[in-house]
Amino acid sequence: MFDYYDEMGMSRAELLEKIQTMVKPARFEHMLGVEKAAVELAKRYMGNIYSASLAGLLHDYAKEVSDTDFIKLIETYQLDPDLKNWGNAVWHGKVGFLKVKEDLGLDNAEILRAIQVHTVGAREMALLDKIIYVADYIEDGRDFLGVDEARELAKVSLDKAVAYETRETVKYLAARNLPIYPDTIATYNAYIKVLNND
Ligand SMILES: [Fe+2]
Ligand SMILES: [Fe+2]
Repeated sequence: MFDYYDEMGMSRAELLEKIQTMVKPARFEHMLGVEKAAVELAKRYMGNIYSASLAGLLHDYAKEVSDTDFIKLIETYQLDPDLKNWGNAVWHGKVGFLKVKEDLGLDNAEILRAIQVHTVGAREMALLDKIIYVADYIEDGRDFLGVDEARELAKVSLDKAVAYETRETVKYLAARNLPIYPDTIATYNAYIKVLNND
């Protein structure tokens, strides 16, 4: 991996130490797993390996930030007020990228955007957005029904992997009578058709 991150003025060792002050060990391991999966996808789909590595490593940086702090960030940055009706699952990406920016001084729009949309996706996703979205779902530590199919799809088509993951997320939430964030529905509508053409 990379030894030094110029844009944050920090060595990898320093960054890993900082991340570990933010998240529990199991989540830290998951973040390393997403980094590895993201780098593999970046190699396969000719993405930027540096961006994939850093976005993967940082994507859940804000996952253990308190609800109170997220509400404060929504207010400070005057984000969409509807965000307040959601919770950590949505906030740690849609709001959490600002925590990454504030704490680490990272000002890389491509990476921050991939962190922002990593849970809910978006109607239009850049290559890095898709890489992180899918890597989060298929990293080696993941073990759930359907993960192997997602891994296979990710080898043949990143868009198909995005579609599959989104469909499974929609199914999962709907089966439990849980609300679905509008961006997830938008992602579903934008990508689902790719599962039908071969
Ligand atoms: Fe996440
Ligand atoms: Fe994650």
